Formats: sequence, C-alpha cells, structure tokens
Amino acid sequence: MTATGPWWREAITYEVYLRSFADADGDGLGDLTGARSRLPYLAGLGVDAVWLTPFYPSPDHDGGYDVSDHRAVDPRMGTLAELDGLIADAHRLGLRVVVDLVLNHVSSAHPWFIAARAAGPGSPKRDRFHVRPGRGVAGELPPNGWRSIFGGSAWAPFGDGEWYLHLFDIEQPDLRHEHPEVAADAAATLRFWLERGVDGVRFDAAGSLVKDPAYPELPPGWRAGDPSPYSDRDEVHEIYRRWARQLAAYPGDRLGVAETWGGPEVIGPYLRPDELGQAFAMDPLYWPLRPEPWRAGVDALLAATTRHGRLPAWVHGSHDVSRAAQRWGRDGARAMLLVMLALPGAVYLYAGDELGLPEVALADDEIRDPVFRRSGGEERGRDGARVPLPWTDGPAPYGFGPVGSTPWLPQPAGWGGFSVARQADDPTSALALTRAALRLRERCWRGRPAEVAWLDAPPGCLAFRRGADGPTCLVNLGNAAIDRRPPGSVLLASAPVGGPGLPARSAAWLA
Ligand code: GLC
Repeated sequence: MTATGPWWREAITYEVYLRSFADADGDGLGDLTGARSRLPYLAGLGVDAVWLTPFYPSPDHDGGYDVSDHRAVDPRMGTLAELDGLIADAHRLGLRVVVDLVLNHVSSAHPWFIAARAAGPGSPKRDRFHVRPGRGVAGELPPNGWRSIFGGSAWAPFGDGEWYLHLFDIEQPDLRHEHPEVAADAAATLRFWLERGVDGVRFDAAGSLVKDPAYPELPPGWRAGDPSPYSDRDEVHEIYRRWARQLAAYPGDRLGVAETWGGPEVIGPYLRPDELGQAFAMDPLYWPLRPEPWRAGVDALLAATTRHGRLPAWVHGSHDVSRAAQRWGRDGARAMLLVMLALPGAVYLYAGDELGLPEVALADDEIRDPVFRRSGGEERGRDGARVPLPWTDGPAPYGFGPVGSTPWLPQPAGWGGFSVARQADDPTSALALTRAALRLRERCWRGRPAEVAWLDAPPGCLAFRRGADGPTCLVNLGNAAIDRRPPGSVLLASAPVGGPGLPARSAAWLA
C-alpha cells in the first residue's frame, strides 16, 4: 500500500542528538561530519528523516539550545559547507532533514542581550525581551512568581532594578515576539534554513512564544505542567500561521513540527489547516502501561488531529525524557515501539533507543544539564539519556570518536556491549527488531486507514486493526504471560511468542 499526502504524514523521524551521535574531530562533542558519516546507517535502519538538534553557535549552557547566532554553524559542530554536504548526502540516500529552530529565547551571549544588559533600565534595547521592574523597595524582588521550567524563579535581575524573563535557564532570556525586529529576525532565520534546502523545521518550545502581557500571577495551587500565562496562548497561533505561509512558499511539502507538551486540546490547534503539519504527542510517554489509558488516549489524539486532516506525531523517546528502556523497561520499550509503529501517524525515534540503551546514572560532577543545578540537585536532569552512542565494541569511546578522545559525557564500562557492531548480526537485538519493524511497517501499516478499530483482547492486553481488515497489533501490557496463542500468524513480535502465548510486556503484529 502506498502512502498518500505529504512525505511527513506517516514518516519515521530519527532524532540525531548531535552532541552525542558521532564525533569526527575528537573534541568529545558529536559534530556534523560525524553525523554525515553515519547517514548510511540511518538509511539502512529504514527511517525516512533525521532531525538534527541545534548546531548553531552556543555557549552550551543548555546543550546548544542557548543560541547566540541563529543563522550560522558552531565551529565545534562544523561549517555551513559541511551541513550542505550532509543535506546533499541525506537526500541522495532518500532521507529528509529537519532542523531545530530555537526561537523562543536566545543565549545570554547573543548580541541583542549583551546590548540589552549594557543599555540600562528603560532602554528600547530591552524591549526585545520580557523586562519588568522588580518588586520591593528597590526592585530587589522578582516581578512575579512565574517558575522556570528548569526550576527556580523565571526571572533574573539585571542588577539595576529591572529583571528579565527566562522560562528555561538563566542564560536563555525569552524573546518578545510582539517586537517587530524579533518577528522579522525569526522570519529571516526560517527563510535562511529553508533556502539551504532543509525539508522541515522543529519549532522548539513551540507553545511558549507568547506571554500574557499583563504578567499575572500563577493561579493558587498551580503546578508544573498546568496551563500558565506563558503556555499555548491563542496569540501564539498567529505566529504559526505566519510561519506556515513561509513554509508553504517553498516546494516539497516542507514540514513544520511544533514541540508541544500537552494533551489533545493543546496539540489540536497547532494542526489547523493553516498552521503546522505535526505537533509532538509527548503525553503517551506518561500514560500508565494499562489498556484503558492507552485506548482512551489514542482515541482522543486521533480525534483531535484527524479533525484537521492531520495525524498524531508519536514520540517514542527524546533527549528531554528518560530512555525508553528506563521508562517502560527493556521489554516494554520493544513492545511500545511496535505499538507506535502500527498506529496511524508519524513516529519520532530517539538516537540510541534502537540499541535499547539504558539510562546512565551519572555522578553529580559529570552532569551538565542546567536542570540539575537549577533544581538544587533535586532533579538529576536529562543527561542520563544523552550519553554518547556506542558504535563499536571497543576500545573506548566505542566508535563515538577517535580512540583516545574523551566524550563530553562519560560512557559507562561495558557500553560497547550495546554497540551497533555487537547488535548488527544478532537477530534478537533491539537493533534487529527496529530494522525489521521499520521494514515491515512499510508493507503492513503505512497508508492504511487513519482509524483504529479496537478488538476484543485478553485482560491487560490491547488489540487493534486499522480499518476493517489488515494486520492486527496485539500488545500485552501486563506483567504476566497470556496463556492463549494469539490468533493468526505472527508477522513480527517484540519477544518470542512460543508455546503458551504472548509474554508479559510484549507486542506482536499478526496477519
Ligand atoms: C526544548 C528542548 C530542550 C531545551 C528547551 C529549551 O524543550 O527540547 O532540550 O532544553 O527546549 O530550549
């Protein structure tokens, strides 16, 4: 069955977390040349697209999401020419390239912020940012109680009575998109990368671009993740309508994907016909592994997306959450891969999850994620899912970089046991399952009706088809094996479906 609609409608996109993917020059940090050299691996894996995390000049206070020049390449990551080469190679291999645009904030080292800091209170140079007078006798208190997503207050003092807003790290001041120069610069950035030939853009922190101009206090009892005066406001959609028009002006169905965090009611509006093609479905990462939440969650997401003629963009893992093998357990991660690949929509896979990489416990002094520092050490942050990939059995750094180089995050002993080289020819490996599943999905699921028909299933299990006929996906979310043979013949399973039936935490595609 052939896919219909734009290339991204049911695409598998592989998130290349650049800093941890492949380090060609041996400085410990993954780079564009390294990633370029591994494109054949990704084509062989069977993905449709790669999403490159930021490669722009950055002081690296937040893994490159603190950008000091949005239209350039950080020399540690490579050059513009190298990026052009990567895009050309990717296209030759049949892979699309999606880049990450961080437009909500800049780095504190961005010329605009340096100028704002130097200019002093009341200066128009500060108008590009969210700057407010402090409270208290001499402005020594933050303007309000808004919280940074990374912990602590969302405001930092200039030291002259005025404070600036940073929803993330203190080194990531938020831009005020109502400012004409900010809007014009964002449009110029989008144009720059589209003209470079990228096939899509991910809009980082998509819902945060507009803040309530009255800067009201958070409601009493507010908790992280609740709606806020700075998340997913109606006005933010005006911005996406503008950017969608820009995307549409280029040939080739360029993709705009919103980094959204929220349920169907949050995601839906980004997918209106004059807005974006995709918005991340992150919620499934938190749904309990029980039939009811999954069934209801899938139905609600499908309803919210298909009403706009779009499909969900399932996120199986990312650099912002713990490793799939940690969240769902080793077996659960394999099972949920088969579930997501069978559902209608696109799927985002995170580099290293195809190897079943575990979350790494890092020592305090090894952690770079600002979340750790800003939460006063209460939260370990996201680095445990960002340890550089093992490509070979050894010696260290296991093919991530040249022998003798030191990766920016330490790889644990035995890391080579998870390597691509070790798994490539092992039919029971996570890598073999991912490859087989991606290949079979082309034939079995892609292009099938965008509806999920739930079938009767044993307790603790879910079973569905897409449309009236076609293959069935059966998943046992429970902790005990199902002592009944699944009906039909097994096309692919995440665990051996021997004698009695489907093992605990496993899934199968059945003909
Ligand atoms: C997004 C990125 C995350 C980053 C944050 C601030 O959520 O995925 O890694 O820390 O935005 O840019």
